[in-house]
Amino acid sequence: MHRRDARLVRWEPAEFVARVRDAMTIYAEAMGYSASVVDNRIGYATAHADRPGFRAVAALDRDGVLLGFGYGYTSAPGQWWHDQVRRAVDRDVAAQWLPGSVELCELHVRPDRQGAGLGCAILLTLLEDAPHPAVLLSTPEGQTRAWRLYRSLGFVDLARQHLFPGDARPFAVLGARLPLTVQSTVDDA
Ligand SMILES: CC(C)(COP(=O)(O)OP(=O)(O)OC[C@H]1O[C@@H](n2cnc3c(N)ncnc32)[C@H](O)[C@@H]1OP(=O)(O)O)[C@@H](O)C(=O)NCCC(=O)NCCS
Repeated sequence: MHRRDARLVRWEPAEFVARVRDAMTIYAEAMGYSASVVDNRIGYATAHADRPGFRAVAALDRDGVLLGFGYGYTSAPGQWWHDQVRRAVDRDVAAQWLPGSVELCELHVRPDRQGAGLGCAILLTLLEDAPHPAVLLSTPEGQTRAWRLYRSLGFVDLARQHLFPGDARPFAVLGARLPLTVQSTVDDA
């Protein structure tokens, strides 16, 4: 368990932007992407910090080295992901889940620190006082640690096997009512 030497901090938007290269480096490592994606993602993530409802949490070691992070913002019409999800789900699901929700845009832990509870702690801290009624996210289909984490926190299916433009992998769109509660039993994906 590596959590003892980690502390969680909330990042204001400017603090997030100041560490955005570190964060996007962890994003690339955690997702198994080439380092060449980092510069491109820095641009997107920096723009996200200006969105209404932006909130971010970082896990840092004693020396301030970034171990993991999560961020999100209020999901709203006109945002690419929001509009994609509105098309992916049926009308009733959209009406029940989309208005006022927070999109969990990124949640990543450095590979050598995964599986020790950090991602769960980041997510719970990020959303513990969120004013939103629900949290939404998309994650690649498959038996992953991310899936186990989301199921353990009560996320349910809003859409499955969805193909976002520009990505060959099928995704699930998941949602959970806030506040999150840890479930006593964890179902498979
Ligand atoms: C997904 C990710 C952020 C999770 O962070 P993490 O620190 O590795 O995961 P955690 O240890 O906090 O939580 C996941 C584990 O806790 C378990 N867990 C959490 N709460 C639980 C509960 N109440 N009951 C049972 N198990 C529980 C999960 O099942 C999982 O355990 P396992 O993988 O050993 O089965 C991280 O693994 C990662 O960065 N993965 C690669 C990138 C990625 O997929 N990001 C998400 C994209 S949508």
